[in-house]
Amino acid sequence: MKIGILTSGGDAPGMNSAIRAVVKSASYNNVEVWGIKYGYKGLIDEKLIKLEDSIVDNISEKGGTILKTARCTEFIKEDVRKKGLETLNKFGIDSVVVIGGDGSFKGAEKLSKLGVKVIGLPGTIDNDLGYTDYCIGFDTTLNTVLECIGKIKDTDASHEKTTIVEVMGRYCGDLALYSALAGGGDIISTSERKLDFDTICDKLSKNINKGKSDNLIIITERIYDIQELQKYIEKKLNISIRNTVLGFIQRGGSPSAFDRILASKMGAKAVKLLMEGCTGRVVGIRNNEIMDVSFNDVNNTNTNKDREYDLLNMLL
Ligand code: ADP
Ligand code: F6P
Repeated sequence: MKIGILTSGGDAPGMNSAIRAVVKSASYNNVEVWGIKYGYKGLIDEKLIKLEDSIVDNISEKGGTILKTARCTEFIKEDVRKKGLETLNKFGIDSVVVIGGDGSFKGAEKLSKLGVKVIGLPGTIDNDLGYTDYCIGFDTTLNTVLECIGKIKDTDASHEKTTIVEVMGRYCGDLALYSALAGGGDIISTSERKLDFDTICDKLSKNINKGKSDNLIIITERIYDIQELQKYIEKKLNISIRNTVLGFIQRGGSPSAFDRILASKMGAKAVKLLMEGCTGRVVGIRNNEIMDVSFNDVNNTNTNKDREYDLLNMLL
């Protein structure tokens, strides 16, 4: 057996711990690991490097991914994927570990249909893969969001101001929901529970009338234009407010202990599955146990979002 490993889609803190865990677990089993750089793009362009223990020894604390990442739209074409398969054959690689999100898993599933043994690890700050309670990177990003929100709250409190903060998540509201729960967001609007502009104004106006002069409104990206929302509130309530888009600050930074440990366990599990002859599986964590499901079950939702939102409603 020879394992290839790649990181794909948006980078997520903890991806390096997963790479380290795969290399070390494979080396324990006398199996060689090759790093495929730039996600699926590197598979097509033959950008591979041999990964020794010494290369991965001190990477756990680093943000980003040492293998770099890319979005490679051509990989949806079958002939392009076949070129990827040729590269694997040329290097004698029969097994691939793919670390990424939903899109990367679609590519991984298609690669497994070409006869390659493939295992997926969930690496995305969005936490948008339903089969697993947590994805690698989510915890670090959540902590980064909390740190930023805390700073905004200090200045908002001093000036008795309101700020709208836009967080990432693609089409998943987990970063907004959990940061509101942990950081005390006053009003949240997410992809799952989107509030219209008038409802936000009503909630804000109620808070102000109750004497809460500084308010934090947390919204998930993509649900509306933050500046439009700001202008609407300012005009309707005749107040001046601020907006902050946290952007790429959320993806960077040294991974939290939680993400490093999660990624290490998942990396070891990927190698264990390959050693047992498994393929077409993705690793996750459910009820605090590392588990795996088939690619078909990636979008099967595990969490009860409605219950979580009801809980949050009581806190706001
Ligand atoms: P993420 O993995 O974080 O969801 P993307 O959605 O951008 O990020 O997907 C990452 C990469 O996965 C894409 O750039 C592409 O190379 C591959 N990919 C996504 N969707 C497909 C698909 N339907 N078929 C094959 N490959 C795909
Ligand atoms: O999937 C991770 C993520 O950061 C999303 O939260 C965001 O919507 C997207 O990637 C941004 O993508 P890009 O790197 O292309 O700006």
